[in-house]
Amino acid sequence: MQKLAIQGGYRLNGEVKISGAKNAALPIMCASLLTADELHLANLPDMHDVKTMVKLLQQMGVRIEADTFNAAQVDKLEAPYDMVKTMRAAILVLGPLLTRFGEARVSLPGGCAIGSRPVDLHIKGLLAMGADIHIEHGYIHATARRLHGAQICFDLVSVTGTENLMMAAVLAEGVTVLENAAREPEVVDLANCLIAMGAKIAGAGSDKITIEGVDKLHGARYSVMPDRIESGTFLVAAAATGGHITLTGSRANTLDNVLEKLRTAGAMINVQDDRINLSMDGRPRAVNVRTAPYPAFPTDMQAQFMALNAIADGRAIVVETIFENRFMHVQELQRLGAQIEIEGNTAVIQGCQSLQGATVMATDLRASASLVIAGMVAQGETIVDRIYHLDRGYEHIEAKLSALGAKIRRIN
Ligand code: EPZ
Repeated sequence: MQKLAIQGGYRLNGEVKISGAKNAALPIMCASLLTADELHLANLPDMHDVKTMVKLLQQMGVRIEADTFNAAQVDKLEAPYDMVKTMRAAILVLGPLLTRFGEARVSLPGGCAIGSRPVDLHIKGLLAMGADIHIEHGYIHATARRLHGAQICFDLVSVTGTENLMMAAVLAEGVTVLENAAREPEVVDLANCLIAMGAKIAGAGSDKITIEGVDKLHGARYSVMPDRIESGTFLVAAAATGGHITLTGSRANTLDNVLEKLRTAGAMINVQDDRINLSMDGRPRAVNVRTAPYPAFPTDMQAQFMALNAIADGRAIVVETIFENRFMHVQELQRLGAQIEIEGNTAVIQGCQSLQGATVMATDLRASASLVIAGMVAQGETIVDRIYHLDRGYEHIEAKLSALGAKIRRIN
């Protein structure tokens, strides 16, 4: 089991290149299943979940070499449990397999640390499009001679639900309208890639997406958007350590709410093209956050702001409205001395002057990031255990942080 050893008390200074977005890369890689032509994908991040998705697609018969994905010879229409259990995003092969090949067998993802995370909305939408679906032995078995367009209104905003049904609709017969659709930038990035492949999609980025089915999609060249959550994570780390950093290769207009919260915390931020500069002089001020679907404050940044508030001046309220159990980082932050009280989906954080280093355990991807941030500001050494969670969603994070002046090293 690998760990990270962090010496606290070092400010972050310098420049860091933002990688491609994990949550755009994963659905876009699945889009390769929708055509027999070559899909060339640039800016894919080098992280565990992307490697898992490559393996999943290759075991189906997709030929993947460097940035080229080719699904001309897909011969296995299945996403097996042993792959789905480690990466829920594997559910995103369901829509593409069903709409291009008429069949798919995909393991139910099962729960995960942050919540039950069902896929009932994905299934409900595919049924509305004419799929025949049986759930048995933990697998979703879906068949359809040819999917047809449908009017689908999501009970809840679902990012991968919107992405799965958008991909199912691009080759369906007729028009599909997705209402109460997710507006996340990663949904827009997927739509832009599908449009480059010949899909007819209007309204991506709004809560109403209209897709006119076509008979075939062709290949394309597409570059994945920069990761807004990685961007936000580095900005919070710089604010927490009182540093001055510049992000390059980022896209500030996908981070408006996060940048606004950082300014409220006292950070000086300016944006120029794909660069975001942040400097924080002195201790941050406490800042309240409430997670909600885009463009509101992202749930994937909640844990990071919890770490910032742990050492901020004042009292902060953090409300998590998306997942029912996304406070696992709280008890780990409390081991570092953070003063946090939880009441249901609300946490009240009384900022401390300082935290004390300790051994803590990562429980999910973004919780891990919050523990790394806290470790960088705590006095003494912090050991973060189970960092495979971190490696799933961040590309070379300790190398990037070390280059910014953090004292952080990986130990076995
Ligand atoms: C995506 O997960 C992201 N993952 C998550 O990022 C992110 O936290 C989440 O969206 C919310 O923004 C990817 O894009 C690969 P949802 P997703 O469907 O699509 C409920 C990370 O850290 N729901 O938008 O699985 C669900 O339980 C990860 O990178 C249903 O009830 O999330 C949740 O409460 C973590 N039924 C809410 O909706 C469904 O069929 C939002 O979930 C689907 C979802």
